[in-house]
Amino acid sequence: MRILGIETSCDETGVAIYDDKRGLIANQLYSQIDLHADYGGVVPELASRDHIRKTVPLIQAALKESGLTAKDIDGVAYTAGPGLIGALLVGASIGRALAYAWNVPAVPVHHMEGHLLAPMLEEKAPDFPFIALLVSGGHTQLISVTGIGEYQLLGESIDDAAGEAFDKTAKLLGLDYPGGAKLSKLAEQGNSQRFHFPRPMTDRPGLQFSFSGLKTFSANTIRQYTNSENRLDTQTRADIARAFEDALVDTLVIKAKRALEQTGFKRLVIAGGVSANKTLRYRLQQLMQERKGEVYYPRVEFCTDNGAMIAYAGLIHLKQQQSADLAITVKPRWPLDQLSTF
Ligand code: KG4
Ligand code: ZN
Repeated sequence: MRILGIETSCDETGVAIYDDKRGLIANQLYSQIDLHADYGGVVPELASRDHIRKTVPLIQAALKESGLTAKDIDGVAYTAGPGLIGALLVGASIGRALAYAWNVPAVPVHHMEGHLLAPMLEEKAPDFPFIALLVSGGHTQLISVTGIGEYQLLGESIDDAAGEAFDKTAKLLGLDYPGGAKLSKLAEQGNSQRFHFPRPMTDRPGLQFSFSGLKTFSANTIRQYTNSENRLDTQTRADIARAFEDALVDTLVIKAKRALEQTGFKRLVIAGGVSANKTLRYRLQQLMQERKGEVYYPRVEFCTDNGAMIAYAGLIHLKQQQSADLAITVKPRWPLDQLSTF
């Protein structure tokens, strides 16, 4: 069984083909980062227009890469939410229409379920149950996963997502959007002893996160050390990046540990763009070593948005005979623990 997966929820156009016997047989990605860089963030209308330009050519490239033709495809999966409505509608319209033309099922996929299942694309794939720490540009969530489709939300951010906090702080430090990876690189030169930033909401019980205060703390520190010529010296800039990353990562580690203690689970999955962060991976690996458990994550290219995770999640739903009717429906807001409401 082979499924085509289409991802267009934000600023990456991703198309992939997954074969249940051979695994991933095509993977195409086009990132719009350069398109949005001048605006310091994703411009929804520009994103939609670019997905329109790129999706069909990428589908053609994916078919070519796999050596297949349309008649070899048994289903078309597409991200139906959450995400930017216009961007979602591009992938959903193309996906639904192609499935109709090819006379195969159309499979709507939840973007965060795609991220959550992305580690399954790796050789070292987790068994159930596990705790998933989903950290992306739009979400920071701890989820108890006891099986496919069995997702219980344990805690999430009440304001900024982890990736959003990275990007906003990176912007304050003069780094281009999306600044998460760039901030992390800058932090490598920083001295971890110079500043100590707060670990928000760790002094009270619970699994909720809040990162907007951490961003404000960074802004205040930057202001304090910026001289009258509007300059921040190179070392201070790196030291602030380091203090920010340490505080954010530490907060994620503390809450992940709590979720593991609360459930007694021995497996931890990290996924979403921020799971590419080296410090976070290292710290969570240490945590799981101490707890005699295992940590699982996707390869770096599958941490951020991609078509492979959508094809994979789509295949699972296709096998469960879950598919869409002919109406094209997307859900810009769609809680992961309400999958069945689609
Ligand atoms: O999952 P993703 O590609 O898109 C969403 O669904 O939001 O995540 C993108 C986010 C951005 O905020 C980006 O800055 C962040 O992931 N990110 C990182 C790193 N790589 C990507 N944040 C910290 N360290 C990284 N290495
Ligand atoms: Zn994402």
